[in-house]
Amino acid sequence: MPGSGDPDAAVMLANVPYFEGIDEKTRRAVAKEGKLLSYDAGKMIVGEGGSGVGFYLVIDGKVQVRKGSKVLATLEKGQFFGEMSVIDGAPRSADVVALAPTKCWVLSAWSFSGLVKAHPELAMSMLKELVKRLRATQTVPAS
Ligand code: CMP
Repeated sequence: MPGSGDPDAAVMLANVPYFEGIDEKTRRAVAKEGKLLSYDAGKMIVGEGGSGVGFYLVIDGKVQVRKGSKVLATLEKGQFFGEMSVIDGAPRSADVVALAPTKCWVLSAWSFSGLVKAHPELAMSMLKELVKRLRATQTVPAS
């Protein structure tokens, strides 16, 4: 399993749209702050109610976000999860389970906070994704 500072991480981040606006030198430095972790299909990566210390970016594979028996979302390469607990320190809001062999780049809450403070454009693009997810949870009342 690759560890912190894996040389491929910077290359992988270069292919993630959220990191497109970040220069290569910064991207390389940021890549070293995270860890590349691999999960087998079926593995629970994050458990609802658990303490959240990591922000996860899917580098390869596929995960499902589940709350009880309800599937909230399926996330693939280039998408993130785990931001909620990292931002507010509350327990994990849902389970996140690998649907296929999955590789994630995982960043500590401390590094995540530093990253978005230094790169507000990154925060903005993540906010757009959060709004999209929020809209997807809303049901339109019958008229
Ligand atoms: P967190 O609460 O830290 O851990 C579980 C994660 O599941 C959560 O952060 C989000 O990243 C993700 N998540 C929770 N609810 C939804 C949703 N409705 N749509 C997509 N992802 C979600």
